[in-house]
Amino acid sequence: MRVIAISGSPRKGGNTEIACQTALQPIQDAGIDTEFVSLAGKEIGPCIACGRCAQGQGCLAHKDDFDPIYQQVKNADGLILASPVYFGCATGPICNVMHRLGYASRRSDNFLARKAGGAIAVARRAGHNATFAQLSMFFAINDMIQVGSTYWNVALACQPGEINQDTEAIQTLTHFGENLAWLLTKIHS
Ligand SMILES: Cc1cc2nc3c(=O)[nH]c(=O)nc-3n(C[C@H](O)[C@H](O)[C@H](O)COP(=O)(O)O)c2cc1C
Repeated sequence: MRVIAISGSPRKGGNTEIACQTALQPIQDAGIDTEFVSLAGKEIGPCIACGRCAQGQGCLAHKDDFDPIYQQVKNADGLILASPVYFGCATGPICNVMHRLGYASRRSDNFLARKAGGAIAVARRAGHNATFAQLSMFFAINDMIQVGSTYWNVALACQPGEINQDTEAIQTLTHFGENLAWLLTKIHS
């Protein structure tokens, strides 16, 4: 079994990356393989609605850094989508990943179906709920199973590392990871 977490932050080592690693830790502890993908420094173009993803070979719209992510997600059992809040929204790169992954799945073999996972949103002050909802919509429309925790997966942080001071967020993210590991273990037993 394998779970992949994708951070949409352009900042390597930032709060969204720490949020992902926090959620992945209990999954690793449960003996499930994990992968972390940072979109920082990656070139990820937008969906151009060309429809060529219907050929089942992924997204053929751009020669950029999307294809390895497509392959990793396709081969995973679980998916975590995480983003910092930028003006009340998820970042551009994570939206581009969602659009291209979602359309490639829906137009071909529905490879996202019944993968389990969930969303994470990190912000200095506000916009978490909108961004968490934005990322959550991806799971709901793509035939996926979204896992909860004891609160929404949202964290308050500005400077890199500040998330560690939001102890409730760390607990929420850890429990989310525990729940995802629990579910995947049940599904695949
Ligand atoms: C362009 C930009 C827009 C932002 N918009 C918001 C916002 O709408 N609400 C908020 O609370 N924080 C906002 N922030 C702050 C980030 O969400 C916050 O610093 C977050 O911890 C960044 O995550 P990272 O460390 O993973 O990059 C913004 C930051 C940037 C660079």
